[in-house]
Amino acid sequence: MKNIAVFASGRGTNFSAIAQAVKKGSLKVNLALLVCDNPRAPVLQKARMFKIKIALVQREEEIIRSLRENKIDLVVMAGFMRMLSADFIHAYRNRIINIHPALLPSFKGAQGIKDAFSYGVKITGVTVHFVDEQMDHGPIILQKEIVIREFDTLKSLEARIHKTEHLLYPQAIKLIAQGKIKLEGRKVRITGREVE
Ligand code: GAR
Repeated sequence: MKNIAVFASGRGTNFSAIAQAVKKGSLKVNLALLVCDNPRAPVLQKARMFKIKIALVQREEEIIRSLRENKIDLVVMAGFMRMLSADFIHAYRNRIINIHPALLPSFKGAQGIKDAFSYGVKITGVTVHFVDEQMDHGPIILQKEIVIREFDTLKSLEARIHKTEHLLYPQAIKLIAQGKIKLEGRKVRITGREVE
């Protein structure tokens, strides 16, 4: 079974969705660690509730040490507000994934939902991708579209985006854990996927 670490700096609703899927048994991985760089982040309380080990870190050496100690196979970034160095990404190449609240390559950055809403696009969505040296850039694993309706407000859109994230992220982790993801250059191929 794969040992995974979730990296989060804030609310941790994606962390909770992953922890819940693991607890239910629908996601068969060992959620070994929460890595957090913010001592006041609400995600810490969520990790305590799920009895997940916490590494509160400031420096990248500390992160690497705790990943090694806990034999982490897969790093799952869920609202971790710090860029990882090129050395770190190199050491964990193709073993770091991220979730972004827009359809990449559109609306990169920290405000993906708001930027898409203000731009006036009719379709936005959620992307799960491998992390490379550039922000919100690596090979795309899964995407799910969300249609922006006439009566949507930023708030109602945010709610739908988050709901979608909470379904899509556990699905992507499951595909990786089952060995169903093959990388060919920038292209991610999904093999033997169940029809949903
Ligand atoms: C999520 O919406 C995630 O997509 C976003 O941070 C939020 C974390 O929420 N990440 C990015 O914007 C990355 N560019 P959470 O702490 O409730 O899981």
